[in-house]
Amino acid sequence: MVGTAAPVFAVRKQDDEAGYLDLLRRDGQSALILGDAGAVLGAMPDECVQAVVTSPPYWSLRDYGITGQLGLQESVHDFIQALAEVFDGVRRVLRADGTLWLNLGDSYTSGGRTWRAADRKNPARAMAVRPPTPAGLKPKDLIGVPWRLAFALQDRGWYLRSDIIWNKPNCQPESVSDRPTRAHEYLFLLSKSEKYRYDITAVTGPNNRRLRSVWELNTQSCPEASGHFATFPPGLAEPCIRIASGPADLVLDPFAGSGTTCLSAGQLGRRFAGIELNPEYLEIARSRLLRGGFDEA
Ligand SMILES: C[S@@+](CC[C@H](N)C(=O)[O-])C[C@H]1O[C@@H](n2cnc3c(N)ncnc32)[C@H](O)[C@@H]1O
Repeated sequence: MVGTAAPVFAVRKQDDEAGYLDLLRRDGQSALILGDAGAVLGAMPDECVQAVVTSPPYWSLRDYGITGQLGLQESVHDFIQALAEVFDGVRRVLRADGTLWLNLGDSYTSGGRTWRAADRKNPARAMAVRPPTPAGLKPKDLIGVPWRLAFALQDRGWYLRSDIIWNKPNCQPESVSDRPTRAHEYLFLLSKSEKYRYDITAVTGPNNRRLRSVWELNTQSCPEASGHFATFPPGLAEPCIRIASGPADLVLDPFAGSGTTCLSAGQLGRRFAGIELNPEYLEIARSRLLRGGFDEA
């Protein structure tokens, strides 16, 4: 681990506002906060966060089994609207020179199916209900969820600065025979202002060239989280954190899941705040941090 910040974190709940606001002081500790992203963000002070690295729930792909979870909206438009509102809150708590690094997966329309059977390898992929094909789309259409969200955020004032292709050489095989197997996801770089912190020397690409917009990274399973949700690899979070923040800066993940962003941020000497709605997942993040050498306050 690098940096001067003590590797200590606390676990707080959404309604313990005093508890976690105190943790967000510049000389404060890091926090995992159990609660709804929108509600917790609403209680956080303006401009206290330097960088946000996050992967919100994907639309209609996983049931995380908890009331208040995002991703199960019937319509993709309602889903984009709900996420955009959460990201309004993110924008308010972000410093003027801060950035948001946003990873989101895409999906296809259901082609008339109304439910998805349990996937034995990944039980969370079973959905009780499959939403109808969105208005204007046809069965089998790629929905373009990441771009829909990116444009919605642009409309709401964010600067859309880059799409980054996360190329996954070890992508999941697919049984479809009328399109290429999907081997990538998007990561968007969005900023709050025209000028923002971007340390071009912090991360370079192959052969020491400037970092490019295609990142090749294997998916990595997090043993504690397997079967629950898609974790992103630390190798996806780390470059974002290095480029967008400095030691002791606060890095936020409003959809913390198994705590990958928090762990990477802490290991790089940043403070972190991870918000997660599901207590079981928050516990996974907590034990990952403890195993990673952090102490709980
Ligand atoms: C794609 S996963 C994040 C995975 C994470 N990047 C990791 O590496 O583990 C999305 C997470 O958002 C959480 N979530 C869903 N709705 C939420 C809400 N309203 N507030 C906070 N977290 C929520 C889910 O429980 C899930 O853990």
